[in-house]
Order: sequence, then C-alpha cells, then structure tokens
Amino acid sequence: MGVSYCFANLSVFLYLCICVMIDKQTVDRIMETAQIVDVIGEFVSLKKRGANHIGCCPFHNEKTPSFYVSASKGIYKCFGCGESGNVAGFLMKHEHYSYPEALKWLAKKYNIPVEDEPLTSEQQKQQTERDNLFHVSEFAQKYFADLLYNNELGQAVGLSYFHQRGLTDEIIKRFGLGYCKDVWDDFTQHAIRNGYSLDVLQKTGLTIVKEDTGKQYDRFRGRVMFPIYSISGRVIGFSGRVLSKDKTAAKYVNSPESDIYDKSNALYGIFQARSAIGRADMCYLVEGNVDVLSMHQSGVENTVASCGTSLTAQQIRIIRRYTSNVTVLYDGDAAGIKATLKAVNLLFAEGMHVRTVLFPDGDDPDSYAQKYGSTQLQTYLKEHSENFLLYRARLVDAEIKRDPTRKAAYVGEIVNSIALVADRQERSEYIKQCAYLFQTSEELLANMVQKSINTAHKKVYEEQQREARQGQPPDPALAPLQGGGVTQLQNSPDGFVPPPDDLFLPDGPKPVAPLQVLPSLNPSEAQEQQIASLLVKYGDLDVQPPLKEGVDPEAVYVVRVADWIVAEIEGDSLSFSNPVCARIYALYADSVNNDQPLPDANFFARSSDNEMRNFAFAQLMEPYSISPKWKEKGMACRMPEDQVALEVGESIMGFKIKKFSEKIDSLRRKLNETSEEDLPLLLDEINAYQTIKREYSAKLHRIIDV
Ligand code: CTP
Ligand code: MN
Repeated sequence: MGVSYCFANLSVFLYLCICVMIDKQTVDRIMETAQIVDVIGEFVSLKKRGANHIGCCPFHNEKTPSFYVSASKGIYKCFGCGESGNVAGFLMKHEHYSYPEALKWLAKKYNIPVEDEPLTSEQQKQQTERDNLFHVSEFAQKYFADLLYNNELGQAVGLSYFHQRGLTDEIIKRFGLGYCKDVWDDFTQHAIRNGYSLDVLQKTGLTIVKEDTGKQYDRFRGRVMFPIYSISGRVIGFSGRVLSKDKTAAKYVNSPESDIYDKSNALYGIFQARSAIGRADMCYLVEGNVDVLSMHQSGVENTVASCGTSLTAQQIRIIRRYTSNVTVLYDGDAAGIKATLKAVNLLFAEGMHVRTVLFPDGDDPDSYAQKYGSTQLQTYLKEHSENFLLYRARLVDAEIKRDPTRKAAYVGEIVNSIALVADRQERSEYIKQCAYLFQTSEELLANMVQKSINTAHKKVYEEQQREARQGQPPDPALAPLQGGGVTQLQNSPDGFVPPPDDLFLPDGPKPVAPLQVLPSLNPSEAQEQQIASLLVKYGDLDVQPPLKEGVDPEAVYVVRVADWIVAEIEGDSLSFSNPVCARIYALYADSVNNDQPLPDANFFARSSDNEMRNFAFAQLMEPYSISPKWKEKGMACRMPEDQVALEVGESIMGFKIKKFSEKIDSLRRKLNETSEEDLPLLLDEINAYQTIKREYSAKLHRIIDV
C-alpha cells in the first residue's frame, strides 16, 4: 500500500466517513448534487405543497399522504410511521442498499464518476464479462419489444397473442414483453451486426450453437417473450412461450443459468411488484408468468411468481426484504395443490406468515381474472384468503374423515407442517385450530408437533456433529431446507443448540455449554472484543451516527450498525488479531458484502464453533443487550439507540487508534533496516498514521501517547 493511497484512505473524516470505499470529495459531491425530491420522485409520486413535497409513504400503507420531503433541508419524514432520513437513507431503506451502494446509485444518476478501489485484473475481467451479459440481455429485450409494435409479423403474431389473452398495452409495456421471430437466427444475426460477440450470446443462452454442425440459431425463435428482471430492474433472462398448439414443443423455454441469471434467486415480477409488496406488507405468490401479469393488470400489484422452478429458500429471502407475509395462489388442480403444500412448508421454515387461496377447480388467477374481471378477482382474493389449515381441511373429503388410518396419516402431514412454524404462539394457535377442525385432542396434537420438532432438531444436531467430525462448519444456508422443525433453531426466540438425545424436554431444547466470555482474552484485544460484541448485539440496528460539529442537525441519516462498522474497518484495511473476534467479524462482513441476513442469536445457537457461540451468547445475555425478539417477550430492555450510536462511534475510534499504534510500532521497527533511499517514504507513512491517530485521539479526548 503506497503512502499516498494509504493517507488518502486514512484521512477520511470521522463518523461521516462510513463510505471509505469512495473518497470523501466524491461523497460530498454526490450529496451536494443529489436532489432529494428528484430521487424520491422516482419511487413515490410527489406533489408540491408549500415549501415541501408530499406523497403517500412508501414505507407503510396509507391513502392520505403524510410523507413529507423537504428539498431545502434535503430530508424526508413520514408523519404517519415516523420514517425519516436524507437522500442516501431513503435509498438504503427503500431499495435495501448498503450506504456505498446508495452513493453509487446516486453517482450514476447524476453522472458523477466514482473511483472505486482498484479491481484485480481477474475481477475486472469478471466484471466486464457480466456487464457484457447485461448489455446483450437489455439489447435483446429492446429488440423483442420493438418487434411487437413495429414489425408486421410481431404485431400479427406476438401482439395479437397478448391481446387475445386479455393483456393491455400498458401491462405489455410495463413488463417489457416481446416477440422473437420464427426465423432460425434472426436475432443472433441482428445482435452480431450490432457488435455483440457470439460468445456473449451463447453465454446468455440467447443463441444456441449446434455442436456437430456449428449452426447458430435463436433459442426463443417463434415465441412470445417475457423478460425476467432483477430486483433493481435489469434484464437477467427470458422466458419464451410457444404460440402454436403443437403439444410436442415445450410450452415455455427459459434462459439457462448464467453469470447474471440464477433462477433459484430470481422472481418473476419482483421489480414491478416490490414497492407494492412493501406498501401492502404482503406478497401474493402465483405459479405462472401470465398470472403475474393478470394480477398486476387487475390492480393487485404485490404479486410475483417463482421463475419456472418450485419455490426456493433464496426466493423467499428476497420477498422477506419487503414483507414476512405471503399468500400462496396456486391452481386448484392436483399438481397445484401439491406445489402449494411444498411452498407452504418452505415458507414456514423460513419464518414467514402464510395464507393460501384455493381457486375453483381448473381456474388459476389468470383464467379467473379473464372470466370474471378484476373487481371480482380482488373480492375473491379477500374472501378466500385463509390460513393453511382451513385450506387443508377443505381438501379432505368425507371419506378420509371416516377412515381412521387415512385420517391419522393426513393429520400427521399437517403436524409436520405446523412443526415448521417458528413462532411459538402462532404454532400453538395452529394446534388449537387443527384440533377443532379434525376433532382430535389438542394435547395429543401438541405432543405430536413437539415430537416432530425434536426429530428435526436431532437431525440437525447429528448433522452438525458429523460435520464437526469432518472438520467442516455446517452450512447455515442449508439448514432450513433439511425439513421438519428446523426453524425451531432458525427463528424461534428460544433457539438454542439442541442437546443430545435424552435431553429433549417438552419445553424445547436448552443450551448445552455454559456461557462465558472469551477465556484467553488478551487485554490488548479489548477493542476488538468491543467491536465484535457490538456486531453481535446491535449489528442489525439502524442508528443515526452522531453528527460532525457544524452540520445541520436536521440532516439526519441512518445506517445499520453492521454496515457502519464493516465500512470503517474495510476502508482502512484493518484486521483482527483475536481469532474469535476475527471469525465473528468475518461473518458479519460477509453478510454485509453479500447482502445476506446478518447472523443472529439463532445462527450462533446452531454454530458448531463453540468458542464463537460462547462469546456471542455471553454478549447477548448481558443486561441491556437482549435481542429484539426477547424484548417482545418482555425479558429485558435495550440500550437506547442514540447511546448505541455513540458507543459504536467510540469503539471504532478506539479500535483504529489501537491498530494505528500497532502499525506505527511495526513501522518504527523497520526504521533500522531501511535503505536510505526508502527512509523518507517510511517516515511519511509513519507520519500519516500518527496524524490520523492524533485526530481520532483528540476526538476521544485521550492523551496522545505518541
Ligand atoms: N413453466 C416452464 N416450463 C414449462 C411449463 C411451465 O418453465 N414447460 C413455468 C413457467 O414459468 C410458467 C409456470 O411454470 O409460467 C407455470 O406453468 P403453467 O401453469 O403451465 O403456465 P401458465 O403460466 O399458466 O401459462 P399459460 O397461462 O400461458 O398457459
Ligand atoms: Mn395460465
């Protein structure tokens, strides 16, 4: 690391410098240029009122506007739900961006060049390749959409098909639908003429090259096109539907997986649906692309479909960014019912609240809407949304009810689903209702559910043991997919590590290891422990960092503690010496950088890393540091948020001062062995560290020991 680079990096200012990946001048420029009304206006329809702009709040459901945006102050505030912040805070909250991502979004909007940390040549290559895939996908989408309206064949075949299915031009355009000519390589030739390489065309799957003959042809020829968008609205793939009644051709052909398209991580319609999902605090899940379109056209915009796969845990996690309520709307035929049950179990396992709507036999949301119109569809959804037990009870015919063996098997299946429900209260409510619906004893059902949970715990426990023996950490991402009752560990407030066999108590598992703080903590590592502790206790909390003096106190901005800490530490390329703290930090940094949910109490509870688990639990058990879930149960109160912000700020400073001291020491040790030529460079570097250390120390009112 060269001195100038290092200095530029270090001298970034305190507190407001969580964006160290982007230099301070650029951040200032971005924030000065960004017009809050302009930015929020992209997501919310705003009207001028007096000095402010107002609109309906995108963060809660409301009909009369109480969401205020002040252009002069650069802030927004909702008087309904209390959300507030500045322009970056809005993007972080609304688009679920990290702070640097929000800045980059703004920079792009206002054409401000951002110099990122230099990429390695390998990363650069990857980046360019992904960019190329994005470009050609967007190019293809535009071409297909254009044919639909501006080409004779496109109109006669493609557009008329969509119209015949009752879709309006507005919906066709909003979803970027298109048509691919029924010519072997029309699109491929067009793309190549426009400078796209065959390699890129092949990688997106738009073009297929026959191995034996080398002949190129369009994957989607003769199909109507449904582009698949990422959450942020970039085209990542396509689904093409056949027009002919020819039963030998597959009804849908989809893009293969590529560097930009991972079908288990994509949801059809998410880009167009996401704000409606947030506003309604609920997401409708349907089976087909056309169902999504029909629902949106009927005014039910909080609707998505899983892209031609059965629902995956990753897809549910995307939905969970916006809501924890899902209503499953699959066909009423046998396959649809089976798919519904599978989806419900997975949704339960991911801690979601689930409802279902059973359509009349043979109808799906699309056919229902086409037959009866949008008002009646909306009414139907409202009146037929029921909890999944009622849904299941409705499916039981009288015969099953009379046959004890079949009834027991049926109830057994339901019990396994209930066991997946994470929330204890919700679970016990289901048990009550189930007992009523199936005329069995509540106590018996409760026992069955507990047994199912225990079996699942045991399975996970054994798995962990097996993996521990093999020296591999268990993959937390896999756990919820392992079936029966696993969510107990995942999401329940009482989620501890399951003890071996006979310790399974009816009340749920208890912790195995006594809790303790790091046994071998070196006093010089106190700052590290402090940081790790804050991550565990408050990583997920949104706080307002204390503002620099002289800054308008109304210029509030909010940042998640984990994002703040990670940005600070990565920005100065600092690292941890204590191995446990290092592992904890790495976990959080990983989650932050990959936009994954942060580790929580339940994650640590399931971890086979004993040292780490002990440390995490010791932090979580401290008074004033109880997780929000436990707070709901009235177990303890949290430290006030502004105090957390203060503590985080000070701990980061403390950590940095410590690290800079170490750095200075190690540089000093080098002084003797450095050549005369390199000496000035080394001294400069030492000076740079000393300056920044002094700055931090002054802030902390400490006596400088340099
Ligand atoms: N699907 C697929 N490949 C197929 C059939 C279906 O990928 N051969 C996916 C598509 O994403 C489709 C979804 O599964 O949207 C549901 O399938 P289906 O119910 O058969 O299609 P619909 O969407 O109802 O299609 P349509 O109404 O156009 O017949
Ligand atoms: Mn259909």
